[in-house]
Amino acid sequence: MRDDIFSKGNDLVNFTFDAKVADVFDDMVRRSVPGYQSMIEMIGLSVKTYGQDNTNYYDLGASTGATSTALSVNNTNSDNTIIAVDNSRDMVKKCQKNLSNQVGNFEIICTDIKDVLIDNASIVVLNLTLQFIEPEQRQRLINKVYNGLTPGGVLIVSEKIHFDDKQKQKEITNLHINFKRANGYSDLEIAAKRQSIENVLITDNKKTHFHRFKLAGFKNSVCHFQCLNFASFLAVK
Ligand SMILES: C[S@@+](CC[C@H](N)C(=O)[O-])C[C@H]1O[C@@H](n2cnc3c(N)ncnc32)[C@H](O)[C@@H]1O
Repeated sequence: MRDDIFSKGNDLVNFTFDAKVADVFDDMVRRSVPGYQSMIEMIGLSVKTYGQDNTNYYDLGASTGATSTALSVNNTNSDNTIIAVDNSRDMVKKCQKNLSNQVGNFEIICTDIKDVLIDNASIVVLNLTLQFIEPEQRQRLINKVYNGLTPGGVLIVSEKIHFDDKQKQKEITNLHINFKRANGYSDLEIAAKRQSIENVLITDNKKTHFHRFKLAGFKNSVCHFQCLNFASFLAVK
């Protein structure tokens, strides 16, 4: 379904992942996040590279299940359970429907990712989700993920990022706006979405992400993909 949620502007309500958003999410994310499809493909590559037999794969902030599906269809290991977590009931309903058709061994949990147990995981993915967690809670979440990973297991984090350099920030923001225009969003829709999401989606810079991984104990972390102001990081335990 086509995303026209902000076609009449914003009624000054903060963005939430409600039924209206769940209905159009797949269209919204593809038209708003540059490189989204490649981001998902990189998750597929990572499961082939780092997945381990007899372990869990976690998709934290699963939305409609694109990441869980990539984890499943690219999995070459055995005895894995995919655990998709989201605290939006509307997203969980969509996810349930999508995964039932395409994914073998999975569980969907409707809860806050800050409360979910991470256990015996070789892959944990936070694809465009950490940015919605209160900044002061982020380190604790990453620490928890680290503790729930097996040795050699990986955390994959994709986020919208910002740049400290004002000129760089301006150029990339401008390119991102033009990316959305090229995908059919009007200037009114772009401005209204920004207004609605600006208090909800809080970006970090790359340095903050790397520092957080290091504090949690990850021995290696790398930015393995970037398209404009969206980046994916891989942190290895
Ligand atoms: C941008 S979407 C993630 C996209 C998805 N991972 C993908 O790859 O297509 C963010 C999701 O995180 C969920 N979310 C945000 N905060 C959460 C929290 N504290 N606990 C659980 N889910 C959360 C939202 O409901 C939403 O579905």
